[in-house]
Amino acid sequence: MTTHHHFSKDFPLLDLHRVAGHIGAEIRNITLTPALDEGTFAQLNAALLKHKVLFFRGQHHLTDASHQAFGERFGRIVAHPTVPAPQGTQIFELDTANGGGRADSWHTDVTFVADFPKISILRSVQLPAFGGDTVWANTAVAFQRLPEPLQRFAESLRAIHSNDYDYGADRLVQEQRRLQHHQQIFVSTVWEAEHPVVHVHPETGEKALLLGHFVKQLKGFSSRDSARIFELLQQRVTQQENTVRWQWQPHDVVIWDNRATQHYAVNDYGDQHRVVRRVTVAGAAAVGVNGEPSLTLRQGNPSPAAAAA
Ligand SMILES: [Fe+2]
Repeated sequence: MTTHHHFSKDFPLLDLHRVAGHIGAEIRNITLTPALDEGTFAQLNAALLKHKVLFFRGQHHLTDASHQAFGERFGRIVAHPTVPAPQGTQIFELDTANGGGRADSWHTDVTFVADFPKISILRSVQLPAFGGDTVWANTAVAFQRLPEPLQRFAESLRAIHSNDYDYGADRLVQEQRRLQHHQQIFVSTVWEAEHPVVHVHPETGEKALLLGHFVKQLKGFSSRDSARIFELLQQRVTQQENTVRWQWQPHDVVIWDNRATQHYAVNDYGDQHRVVRRVTVAGAAAVGVNGEPSLTLRQGNPSPAAAAA
């Protein structure tokens, strides 16, 4: 079998293969370690900014510790604000065995805090025999492809994001029951932030839509109008042509730019066990096109449910 390498002018050190037309690239010649040389790391970071999601097969060597140490190359690592990390780490674990961790609706990670994460690094630990793919969408391309008047309208909007969003809105009753345990932990304290609906990416300067399932309301609009406007913009993000779907294999690592993407974990594997672990790199407040930054509205307030108990 012939191996075809793609060492481009842009990234001469990376064997990079695009996976979809508007987002996603697989890199086939890199072993991810905390000691990755500066030149390779710089190209990896540039490729991430360009392609938004990078896929790596066969990263068998990684442990929780080296996964986290590799993440530190991108900046400060942050633990999840409400879900406890496995002992001695700042890792966010999604394990179906503990009743949650399915992430089966479109979102950008942790947008209920003003300085939401800039990069997420996800590693497969235990996979179902079939199903359980993840899909990512490019929120910068989604903005570029809006009609110009809709771009201007979107740029004028601010959205309230909360971890206490309406997580059961589209779910069956039995699903809601399964998620109760997860929700108790996830919403043990309430976090809320206000973000511009269009933000300027701090590294690329691209404008991108900042929405996803944590959006509770658009500032200045009724719930009903918020839902309609949200839907109008959100469906532009999740258009098939704007996405890439990854079929996980054991020891895969996926890195995404959380400032320019949303993602969705396809929930089609029933009761099969699935575990993935995420290292999350701290980000900064988003900034709208008028220069107005994200705001913190609530920072770990006791939830109404906890207060009533
Ligand atoms: Fe996520």
